[in-house]
Amino acid sequence: MRFLFVLLSVACCHVAAEDGSQAWLRYAPVPKASEYHSLPASIVALNNTKTSPVYVAGQELEKGIKGILGKQLGVDGTSKASSSIVVGTAEAYKKAYGEFEEADELEPDGFFLSTEGSTVLIIGQNERGALYGAFEYLSRIAQQKFSPVSYVSNPHAPIRWSNEWNNMDGSIERGYSGPSIFFRNGFVVDNVTRAAEYARLLASIRINGIVINNVNANATLLSERNIEGLGSRLADAMRPYGVQLGISLNFASPKDFGGLSTFDPLDPAVDAWWANITNKIYARVPDMSGYLVKANSEGQPGPLTYNRTLADGANMFARAVKPHGGIVMFRAFVYDNHINESNWKNDRANAAVDFFKDLDGKFDENVVVQIKYGPIDFQVREPASPLFSTLRKTSTSIELQITPEYLGQNCHLVYLAPLWKEILNSDLRADDKPSKVKDIVSGQRFSRPLGGWAGVVNVGTNSSWLGSHLAMSNLYAYGALAWDPSLESEDILGDWIRLTFGFDARVMEVITEMSMKSWPAYENYSGNLGIQTLTDILYTHFGPNPASQDGNGWGQWTRADKFSIGMDRTVKNGTGNAGQYPPEVAARYEEIETTPDNLLLWFHHVNYTQKLKSGKSVIQHFYDAHYEGAATAQTFVPLWESLQGRIDDERYNDVHFRQVFQAGHALVWRDAINQFYHNLSEIPDDHERVGNHPYRIEAEKMSLNGYKPYKVSPFHTASGYTAIVTTTNATVGTASANITFASGTYDLAVNYYDLIGGKAQYSVSVGNRTVGTWTGDLEDKLGHAPSIYLDGHSATRITFRGVKVAKGETVTIVGRPNGIEPAPIDYVSFLPSGIVD
Ligand SMILES: *[C@@H]1O[C@H](CO)[C@@H](O)[C@H](O)[C@H]1NC(C)=O
Ligand SMILES: *[C@@H]1O[C@H](CO)[C@@H](O)[C@H](O)[C@H]1NC(C)=O
Ligand SMILES: *[C@@H]1O[C@H](CO)[C@@H](O)[C@H](O)[C@H]1NC(C)=O
Ligand SMILES: *[C@@H]1O[C@H](CO)[C@@H](O)[C@H](O)[C@H]1NC(C)=O
Ligand SMILES: *[C@@H]1O[C@H](CO)[C@@H](O)[C@H](O)[C@H]1NC(C)=O
Ligand SMILES: *[C@@H]1O[C@H](CO)[C@@H](O)[C@H](O)[C@H]1NC(C)=O
Ligand SMILES: *[C@@H]1O[C@H](CO)[C@@H](O)[C@H](O)[C@H]1NC(C)=O
Ligand SMILES: *[C@@H]1O[C@H](CO)[C@@H](O)[C@H](O)[C@H]1NC(C)=O
Ligand SMILES: *[C@@H]1O[C@H](CO)[C@@H](O)[C@H](O)[C@H]1NC(C)=O
Ligand SMILES: *[C@@H]1O[C@H](CO)[C@@H](O)[C@H](O)[C@H]1NC(C)=O
Ligand SMILES: *[C@@H]1O[C@H](CO)[C@@H](O)[C@H](O)[C@H]1NC(C)=O
Ligand SMILES: *[C@@H]1O[C@H](CO)[C@@H](O)[C@H](O)[C@H]1NC(C)=O
Repeated sequence: MRFLFVLLSVACCHVAAEDGSQAWLRYAPVPKASEYHSLPASIVALNNTKTSPVYVAGQELEKGIKGILGKQLGVDGTSKASSSIVVGTAEAYKKAYGEFEEADELEPDGFFLSTEGSTVLIIGQNERGALYGAFEYLSRIAQQKFSPVSYVSNPHAPIRWSNEWNNMDGSIERGYSGPSIFFRNGFVVDNVTRAAEYARLLASIRINGIVINNVNANATLLSERNIEGLGSRLADAMRPYGVQLGISLNFASPKDFGGLSTFDPLDPAVDAWWANITNKIYARVPDMSGYLVKANSEGQPGPLTYNRTLADGANMFARAVKPHGGIVMFRAFVYDNHINESNWKNDRANAAVDFFKDLDGKFDENVVVQIKYGPIDFQVREPASPLFSTLRKTSTSIELQITPEYLGQNCHLVYLAPLWKEILNSDLRADDKPSKVKDIVSGQRFSRPLGGWAGVVNVGTNSSWLGSHLAMSNLYAYGALAWDPSLESEDILGDWIRLTFGFDARVMEVITEMSMKSWPAYENYSGNLGIQTLTDILYTHFGPNPASQDGNGWGQWTRADKFSIGMDRTVKNGTGNAGQYPPEVAARYEEIETTPDNLLLWFHHVNYTQKLKSGKSVIQHFYDAHYEGAATAQTFVPLWESLQGRIDDERYNDVHFRQVFQAGHALVWRDAINQFYHNLSEIPDDHERVGNHPYRIEAEKMSLNGYKPYKVSPFHTASGYTAIVTTTNATVGTASANITFASGTYDLAVNYYDLIGGKAQYSVSVGNRTVGTWTGDLEDKLGHAPSIYLDGHSATRITFRGVKVAKGETVTIVGRPNGIEPAPIDYVSFLPSGIVD
């Protein structure tokens, strides 16, 4: 009895914990529910077939209205329309009720929503459109947008797909949220519950296709058992949500998997093989959207293997899917990753245009060339790819990454809509006419029948979908922009915040501020002036390692030396990349004076002393931006803490953990990049911050027992270039130092390295008082690509606030190694209030 009472009281009085699985479809009760006066009495879904998106729309409306407004409405197949919510296709509506005036204004997937009369009308051009309209209506009431409206909404482009880089073994390339929801141990999963939930989420943001496997594709996807799984499980699970399945192909499948002696696209046997397997797949998945192909890129096989053109390769697949109404998304990410840096004119950024320009007009009508937004690879800042304006007789789509491979891997907050909008709004001035990227990929600018959007999402099994609750704004924004790229980043964010966290004004203010500042902050501390994300391109793409950009064939070069930095992409003296743009834009990028500062080092090789338009030198801008960006990241922690109690503890704590991590890792970035260029250029920081850390005690300068100094590589990822590690993997290490700072209260920060492959244990004490203990287990909590080294990926910080310290006391750290993790420590900081270092 007593036990029951306790349980009930807990249930009644706490905000329910939320694990993020419902994302923006929480259907939480709204405070002003009683102000919605004109809610109809019933729901009419004009299709009784359970697999119909219209039927699903009816169910979704029932569920949503019950959650949001607390009203249980029945769903009916046909009844009369007065005082109902009617959802269906235009055709079904006309059949049931006669006239439907707006039918002519609807495009495929579009919908009409009217809440003006006693009947709410949600009419789709097709079944999918009806479902989109239902989600739109629910989104409105969930945000208390109760005023009557009546409008038609049509998509910006027909192709709005997600790409999921899932491997057959269940791992995900560049996935930060646990293993795959689609594959396990080489096969399609048996339990497709999560796949269906994901399809629902995608439908609610109007994504109409999903390519479920990695572009670095494994031909075993084509086995009987997997084709069966694609059809009878995955496609069936997603079809009710109007999400069409697509797959990535390995170009060499006929040989590696089919037993042919060749995969030459012009060999009739190869052609027949593809036609055959394609027919087989369509027999199981009659509405498959088509294929995605990465060929002749980063070691992948392709048509060039046989001296055939990329168009020959793409068209082979196009012929196979054509009878089934399928399309082929052919990636433009084709380049040679063994180019020689000693040739000043070599440039990976030229590759896409070089490979594709002579093929314009040679692709079949159902081929779409899928182009990454910039010429290199999802960097923190790139100009729009010049290929968008090169292909005039070919349908194109833009490829974006929701999974932030180069932008903090969901351990740093980076709201991406502002970055995407810069690209989408870039006017490439083809033929000196307005030619915004968004109007090119919609098919409008060059009058193409197809076109659209591909977003690499990489959801995983973690309940939060992306590993980070705040990162979900990126998925939401992707869907919103793919439907309507004229939306403003902050407006999209506002909708997402209300739907995800509710109506608290402080919550809105804080998440908006953090999100809108997040991309500029990340750019500031990762790579400025168009130099790219200065991460480790040879390893995990997470932490800093500017030296890794150069001296290899990958072509993400900075050409930094003692005096100068940047890629000379001019026509007059460099790689000629600027000349790949139409004349107006080419002329702008050709000259330093007309190149915007934020792309200066993308297009020009200049001295560190080169003055920017701001009046600062390049090197001083680097130093200042890194300090500024890292300082901004610190502010996210107290901002977030001001929300404690205003949102559920589960999501509060998870985000808090990530923001604290980001604040620490932003300092790792700041110091690594600044130390690197300071060391290289030997130009001092005007403000004397770089290399000067008065609040730090370097671990290697402490009294060590069981610990030894360790030269970290890359050197700039350790303060003073050196850390300490235990002398053996079984020795407990002790590092201590006398405190020479004035007595007072400090935040005590310890910078250490958290490697995968071990969970070292630490404790820190001052005098004889234990300040804190912790375990090096971030690999279980963060989800970013891990490292087995002491480097910029594993470097991190833990902070203990408000520690009372007397001058002359001893600070002691005890580290217990575990596995391959030798309890590594870089330094200890005693930070007076307001100081960040
Ligand atoms: C009902 O939905 C099913 C499945 O999507 C579809 O095949 C059928 O054409 C729909 N019927 C009407 C009348 O729209
Ligand atoms: C392809 O998948 C099979 C089955 O899971 C696996 O044995 C093989 O190693 C994979 N091949 C590649 C290149 O990943
Ligand atoms: C399928 O997966 C869902 C979601 O992860 C889970 O709740 C359910 O129990 C699973 N079903 C079976 C039969 O394992
Ligand atoms: C097509 O597939 C069937 C089995 O599904 C096989 O019997 C036939 O030989 C295949 N034909 C070609 C040309 O590969
Ligand atoms: C491809 O063409 C080049 C030049 O046209 C020729 O030298 C080379 O032998 C050809 N390679 C193959 C595999 O046919
Ligand atoms: C790169 O080019 C330089 C100069 O032509 C040459 O000396 C060097 O061997 C080349 N490097 C490679 C890896 O081919
Ligand atoms: C999701 O990941 C977080 C850490 O990122 C972890 O705390 C949580 O337990 C995970 N949840 C699930 C359901 O795996
Ligand atoms: C022109 O190119 C050469 C390399 O060929 C380079 O050393 C030089 O700095 C460039 N000049 C200018 C003004 O950028
Ligand atoms: C760049 O620096 C080099 C080395 O100090 C110097 O020779 C050169 O004149 C400088 N170029 C410009 C444009 O300032
Ligand atoms: C602290 O200072 C005392 C007196 O100078 C010295 O004997 C001792 O070794 C120092 N301890 C550490 C840990 O440096
Ligand atoms: C810690 O040191 C203080 C002063 O030196 C002493 O009074 C106290 O008993 C010590 N506490 C412990 C737990 O050793
Ligand atoms: C320490 O390293 C040795 C040799 O590499 C290894 O055999 C042993 O298992 C390791 N011990 C621990 C505690 O990891």
